Amino acid sequence: MESDCITLTRFVLAEQGKVPAATGELTQLLNSLQTAVKVISSAVRKAGITKLFGTVGETNVQGEEVKKLDVLANELFINMLSSSYTTALLISEENKSVIEIETEKRGKYIVAFDPLDGSSNIDCLVSIGSIFAIWKKPENKALDVSQALQPGNKVVAAGYALYGSATMMVLSVGNGVNGFMLDPSIGEFVLTDKDMKIPKKGKIYSINEGYTHLWDDAIKEYVQNKKDPSKGPTYNARYVGSMVADVHRTIKYGGIFIYPATKASPSGKLRLLYECIPMAYLLTQAGGSASNGTIPILDIQPTSIHERSPIFLGSSEDVEEILQIIQKHK
Ligand code: AHM
Ligand code: MG
Repeated sequence: MESDCITLTRFVLAEQGKVPAATGELTQLLNSLQTAVKVISSAVRKAGITKLFGTVGETNVQGEEVKKLDVLANELFINMLSSSYTTALLISEENKSVIEIETEKRGKYIVAFDPLDGSSNIDCLVSIGSIFAIWKKPENKALDVSQALQPGNKVVAAGYALYGSATMMVLSVGNGVNGFMLDPSIGEFVLTDKDMKIPKKGKIYSINEGYTHLWDDAIKEYVQNKKDPSKGPTYNARYVGSMVADVHRTIKYGGIFIYPATKASPSGKLRLLYECIPMAYLLTQAGGSASNGTIPILDIQPTSIHERSPIFLGSSEDVEEILQIIQKHK
C-alpha cells in the first residue's frame, strides 16, 4: 500500500493552496460531491441485491421513466450539496425548476448535475455515471434563477464519476484534467491518471448508428468515410450509450463522440448545462475540442436550464474533420 498516495481531497487542497485568496469553499463543495459519488457507487454495486433496479412508476421532466437508482442519486446530490454551505442554486436533470438553497445554508457556487446518466444501462449492468459543472454566483448581485444560465466558458470546475469496471472520478478545476480511482479497501479516490491528455487524432467513432435515417447528409458522409478504406484509415465503432463511458473512452483512446441533431430531435438529445458543457470543459482542458457543429460548446449562451444541444466532441483533428464536412454541406 502506497503510504504517500495523493487522494482526491489532498489534490484539491493542494490546488486550493495555489490560490492565495482561496477560502476553501470549492474544496468543501468537491468533498460533498465526493461523498455523494461514493454512496452512489456503493448503491450501484449492490443495486441488484438491494432491489434498486427498475422504475418507481413515474416519468421525469424529460418524459422518461424514473429509475429507483436515479431517485437515490438525485437525492444524494441535492442533500450533500445543499448541506455543504457552498451552493446557492442547483440544477438537476431530474428537477423541473432550479433549486434555490435556503439563505442560512447559502454559499457562492452554482452546480448543474446529471446525478445518474445512462439510465437505460442500469438494469443490464453496463457502465453509468454522474456529471457535474460548477459556476460562481456573480458577486455583489442578489440571487436570481437566471444566474443558472451561465455559459461553459465561465465554468470554474467540472467532472464526472464513472461507475464502470472500477469507479473513477475525473475532475478539472481549470488546470488540466486528473483522474482518481476509488480504492474500495480504503474508501478513497486515489490519483491514478495524472494530467490526462487526449490524443490529437483517434481511430474510433462513437454515435448511435440506429438513427442513420434521421441524420443530415454531413453526418452520413462523415460516418461513411470512416468505414471506407478508399477515404483513409477506417475507424472502429464503439457506442456504450452512456455518455460518461463513451466520453471517458474518447479521452483515454482518442477519436470522436457524436450526438447530432436528428430529424426527430432537431437540437440533439443531450442537455447543455449538465451533459454537454461539463464534458466540453473537460475535453478542452485535456487538449481536445467540443462543438455543436457551428460554435464551441463552451461559447453557447444557455437560454433555459434543460435545453439540448448537438455535440461533436473528441480529438481535435477528428472534430475539425467533421466540422469541415458540416461546413461543406451548408
Ligand atoms: P439519460 O440522461 O436519460 O440517461 O440519457 C442520456 C444518455 C447518454 O448517456 C447517452 O449518450 C445517450 O443518452 C444515449 O442516447 P441514445 O440511446 O439515443 O443513443
Ligand atoms: Mg443524462
